[in-house]
Amino acid sequence: MRRNKVAVVTGATSGIGLATARALASAGTRVFLVGRDAGKVAAVARGLPRGRVAGTAVADLGSLDDLRALILEILALGHVDLLVHCAGEYDWTESGRFDPDSFARLFDVNVRAPYLLTQGLLVGLARARGQVVFVNSSVVKGTGQGVALYKATQHAVQGLTDGLRQDLNRRGIRVTSLYPGRTATPRMARIFRREGKRYRPSALMSAASVAQVVVTLATLPAGVEITDLHLRSPHPY
Ligand SMILES: NC(=O)c1ccc[n+]([C@@H]2O[C@H](COP(=O)([O-])OP(=O)(O)OC[C@H]3O[C@@H](n4cnc5c(N)ncnc54)[C@H](OP(=O)(O)O)[C@@H]3O)[C@@H](O)[C@H]2O)c1
Repeated sequence: MRRNKVAVVTGATSGIGLATARALASAGTRVFLVGRDAGKVAAVARGLPRGRVAGTAVADLGSLDDLRALILEILALGHVDLLVHCAGEYDWTESGRFDPDSFARLFDVNVRAPYLLTQGLLVGLARARGQVVFVNSSVVKGTGQGVALYKATQHAVQGLTDGLRQDLNRRGIRVTSLYPGRTATPRMARIFRREGKRYRPSALMSAASVAQVVVTLATLPAGVEITDLHLRSPHPY
């Protein structure tokens, strides 16, 4: 990547987003960090190489007010070369539980936020002939217990990505859906605990490996778009 490129990373305080922010910064990109916890965002920013922080913002992506403010802050940068949607929430689908709040929350954070952020940043992305990476999930391919709600949000994101593609392409913006399988992050540690399984991060992909794939996507030749990329660990767990 050229040195003056700007990448916006949501969920930059943990897991895949944190690793992505670090990897992009190490590759010479200036990174704009988005997180919901001011202390964590500041700590991540302090840990990045000097001169590689394009800015930071604290936003609850489930809040429309926060999203509007965030979009204005990022547009002030002038251009966005890369937007990586890593933030997301997870909830277990409990059989027989009537829980509209959880439903609304997951759709607001996992689906509405990346959609509105992409739309809101379109001008900046178009100016840079930029790229958008939606970090989706291998959950779209399989079945599983307790995953119905999360899986529904990821299918919705897949639909959004495919549906936005032509509109974005017309403005010179490339779009990729990245589908990691199980990756060693704080979220995955919680999921293993919940499933009653022993957590062995070494059997999973590391967040740093997934981040390296994002860096590779960001360095593709300009005339190439990878639409969908599925990643998995070759180790059994
Ligand atoms: N780990 C996996 O195996 C895996 C596999 C496939 C896909 N994915 C996808 O990869 C993405 C990252 O997952 P991860 O495992 O790295 O999760 P993680 O460690 O839980 O990190 C999630 C990030 O999103 C942020 N976030 C959550 N809710 C937010 C909100 N309402 N507003 C703003 N930020 C919010 C978190 O902030 P805090 O730090 O404040 O909590 C954190 O930075 C997710 O979209 C997930 O679906 C993960």
